[in-house]
Amino acid sequence: MTDAEPGFLRPDPIPIALAHGPLLEALHDAAFSPRGERGWTTEEFLTLVGMEGVFGFIAVAPGAEPEALGFVLARAVAGEGEILTIATRPDRCRRGVGSLLLKRTLAECVRWGAETLFLEVAEDNAPARALYEGRGFVFQGRRKGYYRRGAKRIDALVLSRTIGACGH
Ligand SMILES: CC(C)(COP(=O)(O)OP(=O)(O)OC[C@H]1O[C@@H](n2cnc3c(N)ncnc32)[C@H](O)[C@@H]1OP(=O)(O)O)[C@@H](O)C(=O)NCCC(=O)NCCS
Repeated sequence: MTDAEPGFLRPDPIPIALAHGPLLEALHDAAFSPRGERGWTTEEFLTLVGMEGVFGFIAVAPGAEPEALGFVLARAVAGEGEILTIATRPDRCRRGVGSLLLKRTLAECVRWGAETLFLEVAEDNAPARALYEGRGFVFQGRRKGYYRRGAKRIDALVLSRTIGACGH
């Protein structure tokens, strides 16, 4: 797992609130548009954030006015957690942001009583797959043509991992 550069990343991501909708839209668009994927709108984020069992965190750099580096949105219901989306600012990738957000999500899942964490990842998304596989996620299934990229269809891989009592 990547260790964040000292001083680069606050170790305690900020819980997501409704006021963060426009920020989530901007971060999501910056991370997913280079992949040719549709960004989610502020309204979509507000709907998700208001749903039962949905939680999320924003990773920030230290400072008087913290700079947002990335975020995760997840849901925990009936003993199962699911990552809805996770994104790091493209100019801040590979510095431990995604790993920190994943770790915080696992810890929060414990608080919600979830024992397994699921997610979907595009088969051709090598950075995300490396992140997940490095943190113990294993293949569960495939959704054929789940993602649309222009005229192309890409399969989604469903991955999961068991969550230990301490969120490890
Ligand atoms: C996937 C994503 C969230 C990773 O965030 P990140 O902040 O770069 O992650 P980290 O710095 O914590 O990297 C952790 C591990 O992920 C893997 N990884 C991250 N970026 C990688 C890249 N470009 N190539 C290969 N592996 C990569 C590595 O295993 C890395 O560990 P290492 O640096 O010790 O080798 C980020 O690339 C992103 O936002 N991508 C666009 C949106 C997206 O695809 N989200 C996931 C949808 S399922």
